[in-house]
Amino acid sequence: MLFKQQAWLRQKLLVLGSLAVGSLLYLVARVGSLDRLQPICPIEGRFGARSQAEFPLRALQFKRGLLHEFRKGNTSKEQVRLHDLVQQLPKAIIIGVRKGGTRALLEMLNLHPAVVKASQEIHFFDNDENYAKGIEWYRKKMPFSYPQQITIEKSPAYFITEEVPERIYKMNSSIKLLIIVREPTTRAISDYTQVLEGKERKNKTYYKFEKLAIDPNTCEVNTKYKAVRTSIYTKHLERWLKYFPIEQFHIVDGDRLISEPLPELQLVEKFLNLPPRISQYNLYFNATRGFYCLRFNIIFNKCLAGSKGRIHPEVDPSVITKLRKFFHPFNQKFYQITGRTLNWP
Ligand code: A3P
Repeated sequence: MLFKQQAWLRQKLLVLGSLAVGSLLYLVARVGSLDRLQPICPIEGRFGARSQAEFPLRALQFKRGLLHEFRKGNTSKEQVRLHDLVQQLPKAIIIGVRKGGTRALLEMLNLHPAVVKASQEIHFFDNDENYAKGIEWYRKKMPFSYPQQITIEKSPAYFITEEVPERIYKMNSSIKLLIIVREPTTRAISDYTQVLEGKERKNKTYYKFEKLAIDPNTCEVNTKYKAVRTSIYTKHLERWLKYFPIEQFHIVDGDRLISEPLPELQLVEKFLNLPPRISQYNLYFNATRGFYCLRFNIIFNKCLAGSKGRIHPEVDPSVITKLRKFFHPFNQKFYQITGRTLNWP
């Protein structure tokens, strides 16, 4: 009898024990998965009317998966409707500066779960033919995104094209504008290097940088040379300020984006009112490339194309000195207007 009772008790304890262990395991797994399911980007009111509970959390985490497929066009209209995807006009534009690091900035911002990039430069506002096609044409060029996400496009020609500020203003007078700048002489040489590479590809000869940047008659800086003019940032910015207040611009230090990208990206997140989600995990230095590359997740990472980070030709140091002296007063004015001092020579 006693033996029977003991066996019954043992069995009961065993059942209770397994139940307890099972519950414990379930709780551990649940908490773990809840932790993983936390939205990378909490959806805030300004992103849309839907509540956080309604928002498809997977969308944020698997941007590389589903949205990537949509971007590649591997989906039907029905799927677009089912997933509640839309093509939105950009809430922020990287307007320039050419060779400032515009591609790196766009790709790095795209690491943020609430940002969706327009992969191609659309050239809507600077190209009369495209502009004549109308705003719907522009919107249709935008990638699919969830309503709570923001779309960003970059077309560096916008910064220097006269008609663009007014055209963007007409689309959205409160749009956020990002300008990434590099030390002006380095940027001009980078600009020259890109053109030189194009000429070489076509087996054409080209002038040396020194010959283009310095007027041989006056021995002064040649302000007619486009690569020089583009680097006079303050002149271009002043045109934009006729339409937009300075608070709508954010200046990104392109030299620091190369050497130390995270703090620059954190400043942009702040400017765009995005919760900070880009972390050091997302950026790793690739010694072979000599640049930071991007890590989306444990599987997917990428470096920028080889056309980013070209080796610049050697330039006569006296020409560099002359150019730096030339840009100096314009730089001072640029710091003064933007409130961002960059330690350019
Ligand atoms: P260089 O080719 O002169 O080095 P843009 O995208 O506006 O054309 O700018 C190109 C510049 O981005 C490159 O100029 C490069 O220095 C800079 N850049 C910044 N971060 C980079 C990165 N992580 N990988 C490659 N290039 C980067």
